[in-house]
Amino acid sequence: MTEATDTSSDRRVTRVVDQCARHYGRSPAFIVRAPGRVNLLGEHTDYNGLPVLPMAIDRNILIAGVPRADRVVMLQNIEPRFGARQYELNEDIPPFAPGDWGNYSKAATQGLMGYCGGQLRRGAELVVDGDIPSGAGLSSSSALVVANALALLAANEVEVPYVRLAELLPAAERYVGTLSGGMDQATSLLAQQGHALRIDFFPLRVRTVPLPWGYSIVVCHSLVQAEKSGAARRGYNLRVIECRLACRVLERALGSGLPRPLHTLGDLAILFPGRPLVEFISFLSAEVPDRPLSLAQIAAIIGTAPERLRSECRLTADLGDDFTLLRRLRHVLCEADRVNQAEEALRAGDAPGFGRLMDASHQSCRDDYEISCAELEELVHIAKEAGAVGARLTGAGFGGCTVNLVADAEVRTFLTRVDRSFYRSRRGAARDARERRFIFKPQSGAEVCRL
Ligand code: GLA
Repeated sequence: MTEATDTSSDRRVTRVVDQCARHYGRSPAFIVRAPGRVNLLGEHTDYNGLPVLPMAIDRNILIAGVPRADRVVMLQNIEPRFGARQYELNEDIPPFAPGDWGNYSKAATQGLMGYCGGQLRRGAELVVDGDIPSGAGLSSSSALVVANALALLAANEVEVPYVRLAELLPAAERYVGTLSGGMDQATSLLAQQGHALRIDFFPLRVRTVPLPWGYSIVVCHSLVQAEKSGAARRGYNLRVIECRLACRVLERALGSGLPRPLHTLGDLAILFPGRPLVEFISFLSAEVPDRPLSLAQIAAIIGTAPERLRSECRLTADLGDDFTLLRRLRHVLCEADRVNQAEEALRAGDAPGFGRLMDASHQSCRDDYEISCAELEELVHIAKEAGAVGARLTGAGFGGCTVNLVADAEVRTFLTRVDRSFYRSRRGAARDARERRFIFKPQSGAEVCRL
């Protein structure tokens, strides 16, 4: 059973302060905190402009720092395997090697330079400490981007509204090569303690949603690492492109029924308010078979040239030439409807209803979006047997964690059964409970403390 305690966060603050003095010979002028998140429902909907339902967790990135007089940014990490890094403030910052942790700082900096570069004249000396497990689907990378952005702004005494940051940082994070949506950064910045958040995109809007009384959010790691900048990246980016292609075919299928072009699938909700999104699945199924298609086949359906479609959808060669459209669309539109229903269920205090939607979301992620794996399936199965009201994979998928809704009175038994059935047989997993299963309470979003 794990929860970050006040004592452990106090200890981490003391540690970054001490390390700042040790590495840079100065006490920090500011400390920033940016939390990770767990997504309760609404998977792979955000980049389609459709809603999500996450909450911030009590794991975060802390950065202590001091401004510099010149434009150099220096990074130290409490964790020795992440070596020291250094670069200069610039409009166009060359990346470190792919997968390097310093790229998340560069991503934030380059994004801010494009937005308010004229006001950013000073670099900073920063010490980073994180306790969000990486590759777990709990958004350690976006929390790192958010924390770096806030640190650079603090060093320059520049204020940018959090909503604005939440809009610009997702695009900035594409610097690391993932075509992610905006859920993670928005949650890290805008979450409110004690609540889940419903987030809508383009334009960004958030509202708090209550969690059911008497239930816990229990997160279990499948022990399969799903690094956004590593192995999971291709699978993730391919889903994004498949959605863009499905959007183009749908646009063609709807033809003159559309008042304007479809930029994202989310435009359907704007252009046809009140109409259930799932109704649009039949428009696509009338055009495409339920099997993978090549770019040339999809271009022929739309009536355009393959190379034109490739460049319009910004499709890169590494993603291959097999695209599944119908199932992807079905997942995205049904998932968005589930978020609407989940919000209603939560406002009505209907925990079993919310749990059923979590289960349905998992099935759709597995069968239509194909982002599950054997270990996640095993964990979800065990969780349901162990009494979870709802259980599903969370985050990008391909590994990482499951999220479970469990009655408070059942949590202890639930954990014992998951330990016995899943972790005990896995080498090394029994050792560190703190890093494999978590009970999270919804936390507030990022904060900056000037010292
Ligand atoms: C990752 C991305 C998010 C979102 C989820 C899937 O966490 O960073 O933007 O797309 O996957 O819901």
